Amino acid sequence: MGLVTTTEMFKKAYDGGYAIGAFNVNNMEIVQGITEAAGELNAPLILQVSAGARKYAQHSYLVKLVEAALIENDIPIALHLDHGADFDICKSCIDGGFTSVMIDGSKYPFDENIELTKKVVEYAHDKGVVVEAELGQLSGIEDDVNVSAENASYTQPDQVEEFVGRTGVDSLAIAIGTSHGAFKFKPGQKPMLRFDILEEVSKRLPGFPIVLHGSSSVSKKYVDIIQAHGGNLADAIGIPEEMLRQAARSAVCKINIDSDLRLALTAGIREVMWEHPEKFDPREYLKVGRAYVKEVVEHKIKEVLGCEGKAAEMSK
Ligand code: G3H
Ligand code: 13P
Ligand code: ZN
Repeated sequence: MGLVTTTEMFKKAYDGGYAIGAFNVNNMEIVQGITEAAGELNAPLILQVSAGARKYAQHSYLVKLVEAALIENDIPIALHLDHGADFDICKSCIDGGFTSVMIDGSKYPFDENIELTKKVVEYAHDKGVVVEAELGQLSGIEDDVNVSAENASYTQPDQVEEFVGRTGVDSLAIAIGTSHGAFKFKPGQKPMLRFDILEEVSKRLPGFPIVLHGSSSVSKKYVDIIQAHGGNLADAIGIPEEMLRQAARSAVCKINIDSDLRLALTAGIREVMWEHPEKFDPREYLKVGRAYVKEVVEHKIKEVLGCEGKAAEMSK
């Protein structure tokens, strides 16, 4: 099976009350861990690449790793650019084999965001590629953009119809209180998401796929392994899984996860290095990291996203 766009995935996810996992990839072990889990559970999948990942691993290596994953796993996979900052990076990914791109104009004023998004949509649609855009700002670090919690702003529901209508975008990321990274809430702070905003947005955009960024849960298991093996990640806090399950049942069709993969990979590497300081074969620690990545993704598919077995619903 070749790469697919997210169009059919989102339609089925919307109607079926589940969400597709969009997992960030940076190297072979991460690609393998994610795709082995999704392959065994027959789950449709989005693999996403940030500008930082392209800088680290290079575009062509990442595309070829994903193509290899398609040879090894008979599931629909979309290859997506995460947080495209400008037209040029979107164009480069569209021309370079991606089936989906995000143009993140959320830091610009409304009309500028529309103008930029529309330009990307026109170019992408002409080549059969779909586009995600963002309205509202999440706190946290996105590549070169560091949005502080004070500057993060929720999506304003009264803007979404005009934004989608004028841009022709295929899906919309909204800000309802999730944030990037492993420190999403302060210790003692009650995790809170604005489900009222999500509901209002979905009422205004019936049938339209919504995207949630910053959706790692920061599982205690991997933080504890990291802490027990020389790490220092005290006070790491993520989005409670019950909230993500609630989102997945709603208009949210794509849930973005990166930090949980980083924690899992780091936990495996730290565990082996700390317990076996004599080992220096990278395969020995990377395979444990890769197994933890796979375990995390299995858990998400089964317990959070609800997309186990859903690849069977997609046309071949
Ligand atoms: O949204 C940000 C993603 O976690 C990607 O992070 O830009 O460090 O690759 P990165
Ligand atoms: P996390 O940092 O919560 O994993 O979010 C990742 C993300 O939104 C990628 O775009
Ligand atoms: Zn994001």
